[in-house]
Amino acid sequence: MRLSAALLRTKAINVDGPSESGLKRVLSATDLTLLGIGAIIGAGIFVLSGITAATQAGPAVILSFLVAGFACACAALAYAELASAIGGSGSAYGYGYAALGEFPAWIIGWMLLCEYMVAIPAVSAGWSGYASDFLTASGFGLPAELTHTPLDPKTPGLINLPAFSVVLALGILLALGAKVSSLFNAIMVAVKVTAIFIFIFVAIPHVVPANWHPFIPEQVIDADGQSHFGVNGIFKGASTIFFAYLGFDAVSTAAEETRNPQRDLPIGILGSLFACTGLYILVSVLLTGVVSYTELNVASPVTHALLQIGATTAAKLISVGAVAGLTTVMLVMYFGLTRVLFAIARDGLLPPFFAYVHPRTGTPLGSILASGAVMLVFSGFVPLGRLAEIANIGTLGAFVVVCAGVIVLRITRPDLPRPFRTPASPLIPALGVLSCSYLMYLLGPHTWIAFGSWMALGLVLYFAYGYSHSRIGRAAAAAG
Ligand code: ALA
Repeated sequence: MRLSAALLRTKAINVDGPSESGLKRVLSATDLTLLGIGAIIGAGIFVLSGITAATQAGPAVILSFLVAGFACACAALAYAELASAIGGSGSAYGYGYAALGEFPAWIIGWMLLCEYMVAIPAVSAGWSGYASDFLTASGFGLPAELTHTPLDPKTPGLINLPAFSVVLALGILLALGAKVSSLFNAIMVAVKVTAIFIFIFVAIPHVVPANWHPFIPEQVIDADGQSHFGVNGIFKGASTIFFAYLGFDAVSTAAEETRNPQRDLPIGILGSLFACTGLYILVSVLLTGVVSYTELNVASPVTHALLQIGATTAAKLISVGAVAGLTTVMLVMYFGLTRVLFAIARDGLLPPFFAYVHPRTGTPLGSILASGAVMLVFSGFVPLGRLAEIANIGTLGAFVVVCAGVIVLRITRPDLPRPFRTPASPLIPALGVLSCSYLMYLLGPHTWIAFGSWMALGLVLYFAYGYSHSRIGRAAAAAG
């Protein structure tokens, strides 16, 4: 087979056939929507909203949320179509394999691994901050050596023990089984959504409309030549706050554990995205209405705003909600990560260890252990600056290819049954490609360098291993 043909070899689409994976079909549409909300509401709203308002967009952070939400909505519609038509636990990686070919699929899969493997340790660092504050307030504070990594530029320590422990605990939970984890997820989602509603009700009477003026603060250029605020600030803010939406795509990785994937996946993906967008808009309107945006450059802007108006008890309750929120984000992303790794290995593009499913629990133990080991090192021992943006760029890249995949597949496979169809195609998917590409473009040079290095590693791995071990490649060679 010629190299170009081999790189574009596609996998057959077989959504109705029996799952050969060994994974158990136990999840419903409600489980999936909760899984989505579990993955979405986290560090983005509890940490980044304030920082983005204070440094990039001012009260117009509300518009940043809308811009990022628009790009996500286009991608979510594309995901819903491909998830209902193609399915499979590999999510966008699997859709790429069926629609575009093996090499584009590998590129998408590698970007998704970037998204999850970076976002989980990044969120674990935020979790550690909230959990340490909580322990200190309860009289059980940990020494600084146990809450900072050895490479921390400001306060070097031995290990970030809370971050390390939470990633370890989640790995064990996932290894026990998807149903156990989704029950745990549902409880934690209830806690964090309650916390957000407490904020909304407590904050409303304290809004001072003067705080929304100027709505779009005037553009300023700092000593490093970086611009802040102005209309550009809204878009730059959108490229950062995009992190707040990350996670709805993880719903689609549960396809092989879903009872009725064609119906339930679009409900889970779109339902969780729209619910979270509504909450984000409300929270950011209130946050910037209760205190001046200039005061929001803090690690916990939501509780900070409540403390400013004297709502101490509500602030404490919200801290508990934030810890729950960040926990579910990590849990669902960890779930998604292991399913993508599992799917890639099942296709022969990574070693078989990653596709090992434990016969009793029906969970992909190989990928849980392997990815957990890497993330434990990141969480415990590596300080994680700029991580949210690296996770964003990987996700945006995958979204671009998913939106393009909808357009390509409508041309190459018009006959394919599509239980869910993206409306106004190809306009909506094309807008998805453009908006996600633009947000990628706005991310800084450090983010592009990190992303470029990760993608270069992916290329080396593919040509050193995946290309020659590909299951469909081997099958084609055997068939002569
Ligand atoms: N959307 C997730 C968060 O905000 C990643 O933490």
